[in-house]
Amino acid sequence: MIVITGATGNVGRSLTASLVSAGHAVTAVARGTSADLPNGTGIIPVTVDLTAPSAAQSLAASMAGAKALFLLVPGVGAGVDAPALMETAATAGVQRVVLLSSQAVGTRPGTAAYAPMAAIEDALTRAGLEWTILRAGGLASNAFAWGPALRARQTVFAPYGDVALPAIDPLDIAEVAAEALTGHEHVGRTYVLTGPEATTPRQRTEIIARAIQQDLAFIEVSPDDAREQMLQFMPAPVADATLAILGHPTPEEAQASPDVEKVLSRPAHSFADWAQRNAPAFR
Ligand SMILES: NC(=O)c1ccc[n+]([C@@H]2O[C@H](COP(=O)([O-])OP(=O)(O)OC[C@H]3O[C@@H](n4cnc5c(N)ncnc54)[C@H](OP(=O)(O)O)[C@@H]3O)[C@@H](O)[C@H]2O)c1
Repeated sequence: MIVITGATGNVGRSLTASLVSAGHAVTAVARGTSADLPNGTGIIPVTVDLTAPSAAQSLAASMAGAKALFLLVPGVGAGVDAPALMETAATAGVQRVVLLSSQAVGTRPGTAAYAPMAAIEDALTRAGLEWTILRAGGLASNAFAWGPALRARQTVFAPYGDVALPAIDPLDIAEVAAEALTGHEHVGRTYVLTGPEATTPRQRTEIIARAIQQDLAFIEVSPDDAREQMLQFMPAPVADATLAILGHPTPEEAQASPDVEKVLSRPAHSFADWAQRNAPAFR
């Protein structure tokens, strides 16, 4: 049994499907309904809010007898009691935890927005369990946020139109996570997961246009306007930290990491691969 949190999201759905098709039983954790889970036998849906004070206690029964846990926390991990989760996992006999973290924990140490995720990494590496940390750069699936304006007005509105970043396909994160959960050579390692090449928002718009075979316009919005939009979904420190990466990436953030290819022995998927696979969402 492998416990997967965030099982109904971009990463978790692919990971659940991949583990189940490899013959693993999976406990799929989210707050919502199991309707968003992939089809397949061997999936036990469990409803838990990871930010609730009782989260660790609620997961204790699911973790009993599980050999591994994939820990995907909401947002940047605020409100998650990682030490309690680790203690519950260790008590339940879970041997291994694979954490989806953020590249910015490494590239922007001391930034308040990433302190909760840094604390979760800390709790994990101190727990006495086998661990692997996956520090992801920006996800290709962030482009889903462009969907409503793209479909209604055939236009993408985004800040920093000409700043390039190597967006990571959530499917690659899921495949690296599956390797880390089930293989043996990734214990005690921290991987930086990015796409194979940096693309700008303007280029990503052109790539989606090709995938859906429609003309799309790109309109650059000011960082202030983008921030106002982002504040509807995230707290101000996270919006500011995200905009800092989007507008002023460090050299490491702007560069493709070799780690997906190292783990999977194949190149990371490009943004075009992701757009092609997800074209129906933009039509
Ligand atoms: N976006 C980026 O650019 C980026 C960059 C680096 C790292 N990351 C990391 O990637 C992860 C997001 O991955 P994703 O794209 O797969 O996410 P997603 O598609 O938004 O899915 C989130 C998953 O977590 C569940 N969830 C949300 N809040 C929860 C809560 N309070 N308690 C329990 N489950 C909860 C959701 O289901 P319910 O809503 O039903 O609970 C869903 O299954 C985050 O950990 C983030 O830190 C993202």
